[in-house]
Amino acid sequence: MIESEAENLERVISPTAGKDISQFENALRPKLFHEYIGQSSLKDNLQIAIQAAKGRGEYLDHILLHGAPGLGKTTLANVIANEAGVNIKITSGPALEKQGDIASIISNLEEGDILFIDEIHRLKPVVEEVLYTAMEDFGIDIIIGKGPSARNMRINLPKFTLIGATTKISMLSAPLRSRFGSLFKLDFYSDEDVRDIVMRSAGLLNCNLQEHIAHLIARSARQTPRIANRLLKRVRDFADVRNNSIIDEIVVSDALNAMGVDGLGLDQVDREILAVIIDKFKGGPVGLNTLSAAISEEQSTIEDIYEPFLIKLGFLKRTHSGRIATERAYKHLGKF
Ligand code: ADE
Repeated sequence: MIESEAENLERVISPTAGKDISQFENALRPKLFHEYIGQSSLKDNLQIAIQAAKGRGEYLDHILLHGAPGLGKTTLANVIANEAGVNIKITSGPALEKQGDIASIISNLEEGDILFIDEIHRLKPVVEEVLYTAMEDFGIDIIIGKGPSARNMRINLPKFTLIGATTKISMLSAPLRSRFGSLFKLDFYSDEDVRDIVMRSAGLLNCNLQEHIAHLIARSARQTPRIANRLLKRVRDFADVRNNSIIDEIVVSDALNAMGVDGLGLDQVDREILAVIIDKFKGGPVGLNTLSAAISEEQSTIEDIYEPFLIKLGFLKRTHSGRIATERAYKHLGKF
């Protein structure tokens, strides 16, 4: 491979492409299904698909994973690769700028490898077009020459499995969506599953944690493993500095207070969103752009990061005329 191509590949398949993933987070990631807590029916289905493909000596069908941020789409893609015994290359929709980017990644894969594209809903249409024939026929068509003498040439690609991940399934084009053999939704985790994830992570970090303390952390983690592990890390910092590394109720409560996280896992921005809807817009409906201007947060941040959990808790409703704060939100903020 020529050098500039290698540099280009490094940019588009960096394991952290487009994401702020710490080493800490990577270290806690489960590698195999038996270590992966939660999402049980999804795991069962994937295990059957992997076993069946292995039994037939075939490769896995293309897989689309969707769900809120932090629920483990990237982790799951890595687990699938480990269980199937194949390599995985990781990139993201926004990192793929030109047709050549995707073409060079796929042609550098080996037979059976997995290509993981995070935020696949953000692919440019020209890149997406290349993916159609690559996914369907394992080939890429390129045009050689110009004008009347131009001709089409098909380049054969290795058979690969594409795993796409998205937080916004509705933004995926129908032709792209239809090329995936299976589609899986990751749900928010139960408090018990998050508690078990916190216990597992604490074990890997050599930090002594009792189950009821892990439960306290889990309750404030928005049913999301990534947040649970981040809270655990902050709580551990507090314990190390304040309390001889002992994690008790007081340390957890002090750490959560210092981060502005309440007992339901809402942070300052969540509370501000609800308070602004209630105080400035009489409970709504208020449009996303107005809300975004009122709290100085990007629309996509409100929509992708904050709203899914507020909706899940029943604090917010999305309607055609805008966002509405529910009675539960009024009660939680003591606005009655
Ligand atoms: N760490 C992050 N997500 C996890 C999961 N689902 N199971 C176990 N550990 C995790």
